[in-house]
Amino acid sequence: MKETVEIFISEAELKTRIDELAFKINNDYKGETLHIICILKGSIFFTCELAKRLTVPVEIDFMQVSSYGDGTESSGQIKIIKDLDSPVTGKHIMIIEDILDSGRTLSRLIEYLKTKNPAGISVCTLLDKPSRREYPVKADYNGFEIEDRFVVGFGLDYAQRYRNLPYIGILNFEED
Ligand code: IMP
Ligand code: MG
Repeated sequence: MKETVEIFISEAELKTRIDELAFKINNDYKGETLHIICILKGSIFFTCELAKRLTVPVEIDFMQVSSYGDGTESSGQIKIIKDLDSPVTGKHIMIIEDILDSGRTLSRLIEYLKTKNPAGISVCTLLDKPSRREYPVKADYNGFEIEDRFVVGFGLDYAQRYRNLPYIGILNFEED
């Protein structure tokens, strides 16, 4: 099988949309300090690009959870691989995700973070596949709503590859 990637959301389109999201977040969080939680590894590119455009005071922490194996299908429970470094009690936290698919990862994460008593929790996702939703999670900030296609790039992987692509691409498998 040969893998090919076709450009789906270009670098320029990503930048324009992230500008718009940052503008909205800067307005919504005026006067607050925003505590960003970047969900590794997929959200690193999005978090960096978004955070560079934020003008409100920002703190950044990282969590890593696993829900997918090395394939394209979801696997059972989520597991916390890397937990928060600092307490979030009383903080305005924003979870930054690469993609909202079934919603399993985010619904579990939100449940977990609620137990830490933050002042508020919001969700910012670069991509959303609403047709795949199994858990009732909604993003407060959403870059692009997409159909049920497997995408890679700008942080998103297939078997740990393609994260470094500067655009979002659709992965196609072809016979050799
Ligand atoms: P959920 O828990 O089903 O919502 O899945 C969310 C996670 O699945 C994301 O953070 C991604 O790591 C992964 N995922 C879902 N769809 C895609 C895709 O199209 N490409 C790459 N990873 C994906
Ligand atoms: Mg992932």
